[in-house]
Amino acid sequence: MKQLHEYGYGNREQTESFINREVQETCDYIDTLIDTQDGVIVPEFLFNVANVNVVWGLASGTRFNHKDPKMLKLMDCVMDLIRYSELAGGIQSAYPFMLDWCPGLLQFPKVQEVNRKFQAFFREIIQEYRQAGAFRFSPKNFIEIFLQRIDIANKDNPGIFTDENLIAVLYDFLAGSILTTAETLIYAVLQFALHPEMQERMRNEIDTVFGKSRLSSVSEKQRTPFCTAFILEVLRLSTVVPLAPRKVYKDTSFGDYIIPKDTNLLINYYSIHMDKEFWGDPENFRPDRFLNEESSIINSDHIMSFSAGKRSCFGEPIAQANIYLFLTQLLQRFTFRRDADNTPPSAEFKPGLIVRLQPFSLLVKRRDYNK
Ligand code: HEM
Repeated sequence: MKQLHEYGYGNREQTESFINREVQETCDYIDTLIDTQDGVIVPEFLFNVANVNVVWGLASGTRFNHKDPKMLKLMDCVMDLIRYSELAGGIQSAYPFMLDWCPGLLQFPKVQEVNRKFQAFFREIIQEYRQAGAFRFSPKNFIEIFLQRIDIANKDNPGIFTDENLIAVLYDFLAGSILTTAETLIYAVLQFALHPEMQERMRNEIDTVFGKSRLSSVSEKQRTPFCTAFILEVLRLSTVVPLAPRKVYKDTSFGDYIIPKDTNLLINYYSIHMDKEFWGDPENFRPDRFLNEESSIINSDHIMSFSAGKRSCFGEPIAQANIYLFLTQLLQRFTFRRDADNTPPSAEFKPGLIVRLQPFSLLVKRRDYNK
């Protein structure tokens, strides 16, 4: 963590500049789709390359071109991760003990195979950094600092500074970030298409605060309360990480319950987000539930999308910035509509470790600034 902070993790400006670059690349790509496909886009894989580049950029200080063989290799791992995250979820999310009893039946070996592919990819990258050797003199990013610390660490007692740990951290970054952020963005653009009036309200707010030529910025997020409320409602209803496993290490009392040592628990974030008693109409997409009469944000502390406490999401600041900049800058350039001729948008989810939407297409148009 300390190394990440040294090299800009949590530094708003650096994070924002990485994200802005990727958002603008994605917008340029959408621009080409408007010319070549009459604006019909399938958002399913639209955000993956950008999300990989944001997280990879923060770890390595570099980005991959869309056609770079390394990016293609990484995307191959990511696509496998997407494919098998469905296998990793479902029944075994509800009954984790089945992993011990019948891993083959759950196709768990496939998930392990994806992990091995990721590890091989990272090992290759680490090898390249070692061969280049720049980290020995002036380390410039997280990977180089980590490699330098591995060299300095006592060989007999390396502590946390080992190749295996570097690989584990890089894997956690990429696997923890890509699907979650991409699915949240996909869910958001679906809501754009389903609620044109909300899109308009966000766009008015964005135009008022940032104008039509200045890129949106997280530093002024509090001046766009409806955009913030919209994102909170997306996080609530999408709940891309619906469950999280925990184990009780000592006998614990919680409310009226005594939970014995070694009990496996699943935290159900979905039930918190769909609690009828608190939200009233949890099934409806209604961002205004997060605004009071003065248009100030309320109830944001009831959103548990990033969990809470010690094991909460390490990447929350990056994810929050990513989602805000993506959505506001997409609206600065485009309008999103339902695509009547193709797959109708559906808010139905596929089950899995990460909850995912069924594929759908949308119609995207460039904004008409003369309106
Ligand atoms: C919308 C986007 C995201 C959502 C909804 C999300 C959600 C979560 C949740 C719920 C957890 C905790 C799981 C648990 O309770 O055990 C978590 C952990 C984690 N997330 Fe995220 N995440 C997102 C984006 C990111 C990003 C962008 C990164 C990396 C840059 C990231 C890295 C991690 C890591 C490393 C952990 C493990 C933390 C630990 O176990 O100590 N996540 N995430």
